[in-house]
Amino acid sequence: MTSERSAYSVSFSPESHPPVRLASGSNLSEYLSVENSPVLFGCRNGVCGTCLIEVQEEMNGRLREAADDEREMLDILAPDNPRARLACQVALCADIKIRYLGFASL
Ligand code: FES
Repeated sequence: MTSERSAYSVSFSPESHPPVRLASGSNLSEYLSVENSPVLFGCRNGVCGTCLIEVQEEMNGRLREAADDEREMLDILAPDNPRARLACQVALCADIKIRYLGFASL
């Protein structure tokens, strides 16, 4: 049996901003902003790729796998990066360290 915590943290690489602590299950796009993170968002529904990130560390839990629609976008935006995710599609269920990729991999 896994014990789910009520909150998890998002830290950034490089450490441009302090870690952000969010309630379990929070969608990153609802809480990360230009004030508290390096991640930029556009559509917030998984179609523009602006929020492309790499999950460098995942601790004290496990993120859900990318759904088929997200996986299709990731196959286009970052085909060689198995740690790539769209931040707007991530619900926080682990402490994570992320690096913003944006459009860098296009
Ligand atoms: S903000 Fe457009 S894909 Fe995430």
